Amino acid sequence: MCGIIAVTGQGATVEVLTSGLKRLEYRGYDSAGIVVCDENGLFSRLRVAQGKNSLDRLDSDAKESEFGSIISGIGHTRWATHGGPTLFNAHPHIDCNGTISVVHNGIVENFRELKDDLISRGHIFSSETDTEVIAHLLEESLISKGSLVEAVSSIAPIMRGAMSFVAISSTEPGVLVGFKRMAPMVIGRASNTWFIASDIPAILDRAEVFYHLEDDHLVCVTGGGAEIFNLEGDSVDLVEFPVTWSLESAEKSGFDDFMSKEILEQPGALRDTLAGRLASSGELILDETTSDPDSLARINKVFIVACGTSYHAGMVAKYAIEHWTKVPVELDISSEFRYRDPVVDERTLVVAVSQSGETLDTLAALHEAKNLGAQTLAVCNVVGSSMARLADTVMYTRAGPEVGVAATKTHTAQIGALLLLALNLARTKGQLYPSEIDALYEELTLVPAKIQEVLNSWDAIGEVAKRFSGSSRFYFIGRHVGYPVALEGALKLKEISYLPAEGYPAGELKHGPIAMLDEMAVVVAIATRTRLYEKIVSNIEEVRARDSSVIIIGNPGDEGQANLGESFISVPRVHPLFAPLVDVVPLQIFAYHMARNLGMDVDRPRNLAKTVTVE
Ligand code: F6R
Repeated sequence: MCGIIAVTGQGATVEVLTSGLKRLEYRGYDSAGIVVCDENGLFSRLRVAQGKNSLDRLDSDAKESEFGSIISGIGHTRWATHGGPTLFNAHPHIDCNGTISVVHNGIVENFRELKDDLISRGHIFSSETDTEVIAHLLEESLISKGSLVEAVSSIAPIMRGAMSFVAISSTEPGVLVGFKRMAPMVIGRASNTWFIASDIPAILDRAEVFYHLEDDHLVCVTGGGAEIFNLEGDSVDLVEFPVTWSLESAEKSGFDDFMSKEILEQPGALRDTLAGRLASSGELILDETTSDPDSLARINKVFIVACGTSYHAGMVAKYAIEHWTKVPVELDISSEFRYRDPVVDERTLVVAVSQSGETLDTLAALHEAKNLGAQTLAVCNVVGSSMARLADTVMYTRAGPEVGVAATKTHTAQIGALLLLALNLARTKGQLYPSEIDALYEELTLVPAKIQEVLNSWDAIGEVAKRFSGSSRFYFIGRHVGYPVALEGALKLKEISYLPAEGYPAGELKHGPIAMLDEMAVVVAIATRTRLYEKIVSNIEEVRARDSSVIIIGNPGDEGQANLGESFISVPRVHPLFAPLVDVVPLQIFAYHMARNLGMDVDRPRNLAKTVTVE
């Protein structure tokens, strides 16, 4: 979604802003811009909109502009929400006098009423964005408040919604004021240069030390230091946190794209997820927890909330938790959970699953769960993310940064983490003997090597994709844990190739979808030896009878299942509840090749963003 970078102090240059924005490009954007401030408080603004390589244009325009030395600056990549992706909607936005400038991430939900009020008081708006109200509110507030930080503090409570923003004022050259509420924001420092950014990669190669900013806190930064305040004006300590991601690990390392790199990284990522998780007592080692150790034993229900690919990982967890623990599991798409009346109490464990830890729908569901008194646990990949800080307990998936918009390695890492959680619940509930848990854990640690075997079939799966690159309609079917795999296979294909693809529980075919099957349809069947193997074989027969093409994902020895002219992709056989970890990989590779064959940008699919911080 939108990206923010801001810099002040000795090392403030235009290049810090443009290169920082480049590092946020993977999040998706449709316009970009910067405002720089010289030591006399004079602003210069540059913006670009739409079209490929907008950030390169911004960079070359900035070079041509020869801004001279600057004291501070703010930059932004925008992904349109309020107002189209046009130049006049591009950030940074300014007030009526051009003396305040703002970059913003998230949504000011009550911006319409705020804007109407401001217009009635004579303010003139030059964009359709919600962001611009922040600049005009600050313009008014600065008249009565002594400083930008006090002005930000006074307007923050009147704006509703999840947002983070950075403001500068020409009356205080060199001062950056950042505010955060349920949208990501970090602070960085390298000697006398300070940064504020929405995401670590923007300043990873610049900052040496990183600091958290909590929700409803604001930070005032100059080259001389940073001070954090709450909305009551009390000073808050700066809390440093370690950043272990190297810049190199956030780059492509020689691959054509991030997606192929990340698919191929899965064995290592899953190993990291599983490594050192079980204490000698058999207890799961969690990353952070404020819950009392016995609280899990009191759980009588689990509720999983997530979106998209993370939801599919949650579906796999439901099968495992119910099988191993006999504790009932409910599963909800986060955006549904918060708007119904979920039956949740203090004996419910609400598990939020999210790669980014910032997805607004899931974050809001987590808030709702806390309000309802549930115990909460976040499974996420980004250390220190909003969900990680909100939940009582955190399990990090440790998959490393994922840049490709389509989630791959973080999905298998999520399943790995959730399987560990399921085993831990079984231990807590006394539903499995310690020796059984040890044996299952041992078996799970062998799965990364099985994934590697699938990856070795990269080219063979590419050949299958080539055969079907002219096809235009795909159905993915599976049963039991093969069902979430089918959903994920369909999601991957449609996300990056834009081909119509649906996932179904195979038993549902006859209740409707079978009407769509004809000789033009391609059906991908997850037919590994999990619990309902015989039944999925019958479902494949139903498909064959409708003359549709069939691609089978099966285990070695079952190749004979495929008829002449059909495709069979062999994957190693593992424990039935671990099968999604292996079975999903050929579907990721298939989607990747299909998209590449169609000439699509696999890392940045249209209309999608890596982190969805809007409702
Ligand atoms: C699909 C994909 C999305 C995300 C979803 C949730 O490839 O990446 O469906 O899974 O937007 O995002 P997180 O996991 O960050 O909460």
